[in-house]
Amino acid sequence: MKATTISQLRQWKQEKHKFATITAYDASFAQLFAEQGIPVMLVGDSLGMVMQGHDSTLPVTLEDIVYHTRCVRRGAPKALVLSDLPFMTYSTPEQTFDSAAQLMRAGANMVKLEGGSWLCETVSKLAERAVPVCGHLGLTPQSVNIFGGYKIQGRGEAAAKLLVKDALALEKAGAQLMVLECVPVELARRVTQELTIPVIGIGAGNATDGQILVMHDAFGITGGHTPKFAKDFLAEAGDMRGAVRLYVEQVAQGIYPGEEHSFK
Ligand code: KIV
Repeated sequence: MKATTISQLRQWKQEKHKFATITAYDASFAQLFAEQGIPVMLVGDSLGMVMQGHDSTLPVTLEDIVYHTRCVRRGAPKALVLSDLPFMTYSTPEQTFDSAAQLMRAGANMVKLEGGSWLCETVSKLAERAVPVCGHLGLTPQSVNIFGGYKIQGRGEAAAKLLVKDALALEKAGAQLMVLECVPVELARRVTQELTIPVIGIGAGNATDGQILVMHDAFGITGGHTPKFAKDFLAEAGDMRGAVRLYVEQVAQGIYPGEEHSFK
């Protein structure tokens, strides 16, 4: 099996081949995901909630992401591994370079950061120094205290226009991939059409180039609160490998996410 590259993802975008991605935090699941056809894995700061039991991603440290990136890289040597820059680890250029270097040394192929146009300088500085960057717009969980909760973003024409503007600005600054979280389907479609880089959605409908799920949500382990966009593939497939295969297939066929998983 060949290693997944960003050019491969761009080609899939052009060919309209929809791809499934997932969060991973350890070697065993990373290996299982790779074997079932998942090409891209995110070592997300969601680990603060699903692995560590916090009620937000804010307590996650760079050391946490470095540790889990090493684990995932060992389990899935050929996957394209994205690693999150945690809250407040990209506030100054020096801090950003140091944080990104630690993630890349741990085995990341790309770093992900949350926010809009105000991060353009950070993105271009990283790209100039050979660190590929994935943007993250919409519901950006590190800003939960600004949003006042985990709420749908980009509703209404003004908010939608701003989000499109941010997405275009980040692409121009050098971002090579974009995650869109919890935005209306039509807005996600608009961003996916306007950007030349691949767009990966979560709670953003099925018009994006790819999908991402927090792995626990794909297995129905939602701690009593199931997000609208989550689907328990394990319940449908009966075993974990089958669940991952079903997720990959349903994304490729445009079956998942359905209308019932999307926001209007
Ligand atoms: O941290 C994470 O898992 C994420 C995904 C929800 C996209 O950012």
